[in-house]
Amino acid sequence: MKVFWLVFVGVALAALVPTAVVAATALTFGTTSLPAVVMACTIGVASGLALAWGLATKVARPLESFNDFALQIARGKFGAQLDDRSDELQELVKTLNYMSASIEAYDAETQRLTDSVEAGYLDTIVALANSIDSKDAYTRGHSQRVAELSVEIGKELGLSPEELKECRYGGILHDIGKIGIVESILLKQTRLTDDEMVVMRTHAALGDEIIRPVRFLSKIRSAVRNHHEWWNGTGYPDKLKGDAIPLIARIVACADTWDACTSTRPYQVALPHAEALKVLERLEGQHLDPTVVAACRRALEKRRPRVSRPELPAVAPEKSA
Ligand SMILES: [Fe+2]
Repeated sequence: MKVFWLVFVGVALAALVPTAVVAATALTFGTTSLPAVVMACTIGVASGLALAWGLATKVARPLESFNDFALQIARGKFGAQLDDRSDELQELVKTLNYMSASIEAYDAETQRLTDSVEAGYLDTIVALANSIDSKDAYTRGHSQRVAELSVEIGKELGLSPEELKECRYGGILHDIGKIGIVESILLKQTRLTDDEMVVMRTHAALGDEIIRPVRFLSKIRSAVRNHHEWWNGTGYPDKLKGDAIPLIARIVACADTWDACTSTRPYQVALPHAEALKVLERLEGQHLDPTVVAACRRALEKRRPRVSRPELPAVAPEKSA
């Protein structure tokens, strides 16, 4: 509106000052009667103000629409278009619309390239995760299942699409550090000794070291490093407690526990659904975040078929590494 008033006042002054001068001259020299001067001044003032209003509107209105247009572009609404005009601003409008359409096209291309690069990264990390899972027939598909359940839990917790993507990547890569564990321990078919358990537990920090240089995985480092922290602070490697454990790590921990309970391992057969739920219940508030466990229950409920099936007898699970 600043421009509007600037133009209005400028034009009004340009029209009114000469009128006032002419009127004053006429009155001074008595060449015209007073009523005629008043009449002429009234017409002059009215015409001047009308002219000023019209010109100010004509100049200010396009500027306002250009300002709105620039704001839309700044807010990421690429492709926004100005109304076509039939006056001298038409060329400027055409140029700005062309610029907007070009930015929209560049943005779409950038997004396509970003998606493509990300898909390539994801393929790579899936291949890495599969290389760990494939070493052991018992853990085949474990990382993918943990990733899927982590995303489902994240949805129940109302996470954003970006955070859900982090849940997926975190789930896929949570055990990447097992690449650095010797096979005699990693593939051992019997219970690990205390010393072997110490070695096995290094996989969390080792995994963090492996992905640390990869910038686009920076947000999932905690899922890799902290997925064995316990809610009560007795986990590893950092002995984090409660909310100090990053949410993504708490989610992956819950999904990891569920998959460990419901998968057949050398030291256990898969628990039936109801028994595995009881395990989660027991671990809630000790090992696992109660809020995350509640979200996991809701996610699992949505997976359940409506027709109930007879379940196998329960076998107690052992703590996974
Ligand atoms: Fe692990």
